[in-house]
Amino acid sequence: MKKIGVLTSGGDAPGMNSAIRAVVRSGIEMGMEVYGIKRGFAGLLSGEIIEMNRKSVSGIIQRGGTILYSARCIEFKEQAQQKIAVDKIKELGLDGLVTIGGDGTFQGARSLSVNWDIPTIGIPGTIDNDLAYTDFTLGFDTACNTAINCINNLRDTMNSHRRVSVVEVMGRNCGDIALYSGISSGAEVVIIPEVKIEMSEIVERLQASRRRGKSSNIIVLAEGAGNAMEYAKQIEEATGMTVRGQNLGHILRGGSPSMVDRMLGVQFGYRAVQLLNKGIGNRVIGTRNEQIVDLDIVEALAQKYEYKKDLYEASKVLCM
Ligand code: ADP
Ligand code: F6P
Repeated sequence: MKKIGVLTSGGDAPGMNSAIRAVVRSGIEMGMEVYGIKRGFAGLLSGEIIEMNRKSVSGIIQRGGTILYSARCIEFKEQAQQKIAVDKIKELGLDGLVTIGGDGTFQGARSLSVNWDIPTIGIPGTIDNDLAYTDFTLGFDTACNTAINCINNLRDTMNSHRRVSVVEVMGRNCGDIALYSGISSGAEVVIIPEVKIEMSEIVERLQASRRRGKSSNIIVLAEGAGNAMEYAKQIEEATGMTVRGQNLGHILRGGSPSMVDRMLGVQFGYRAVQLLNKGIGNRVIGTRNEQIVDLDIVEALAQKYEYKKDLYEASKVLCM
């Protein structure tokens, strides 16, 4: 392949810039022209496309967000809009595409690959970690580290006042950010959408921890499992403790990527271009058992996400 495009789509994630940089520099090294498509599928439709060079990706590996910007482009689900995008790709003479994003972005990539014969490679870029075929997605590690730092701060002030904090973290319908950040910050309770928890159990666990002498409590709540303010109110009523709700929201999506996310970005981007260079498309890149892997996009998307039951069970034992 001689000409390829790269785009970032859906929610941005720390590490996307590292992946863009790797795609651009590997592509140029392999003798390709690399085009950056701005604002995801929206920019593909409106033709916001620029040629990139080594310099255009210099000084970005440490930056959060995405230099190509991102967007949610609902109309891309329509065949007629996809046809416009395909015409644009052909008009530009792009031989292949790298799409960096989450599950939704991969649905778009699958359509381009399977329905329209555009060789497309997907790089998993989402803080949610909700793609079954890969152990980790780009941005998840940084988002968890950001959550941990916020929870550390909350722990200080909750301790001083003998309070309870309900901290809501993003993740859409997936509890991984809550589970990993909750366990690694020593939260007393982790609430995830995949497992129902009764209010009576939450109350019991808070009271047990106070009996053991703890002066504060942290409850990490995944956004898919409820609302921090509502939980805080209910827990305050049920326990008589002072409870504060806090939604970390988009704070988790920003910030300088961790080493883990920079390295994943580098390796995902490099592998994506290696595949396109061999004329291979219709695949997604991921990581399994600390190895970089690639697999068929249809097979990858057919895999059903399962929550980490063992980790959840461990959280109940270790967080007390
Ligand atoms: P993410 O990629 O982070 O999961 P979204 O779910 O918002 O984020 O999806 C990103 C974009 O992918 C959407 O705005 C849309 O352009 C495209 N997309 C999502 N679902 C589909 C689909 N079923 N078919 C084609 N494109 C889709
Ligand atoms: O998919 C990433 C994510 O941050 C989810 O965790 C969250 O549910 C959603 O995007 C928020 O979307 P928006 O930025 O459009 O409000």
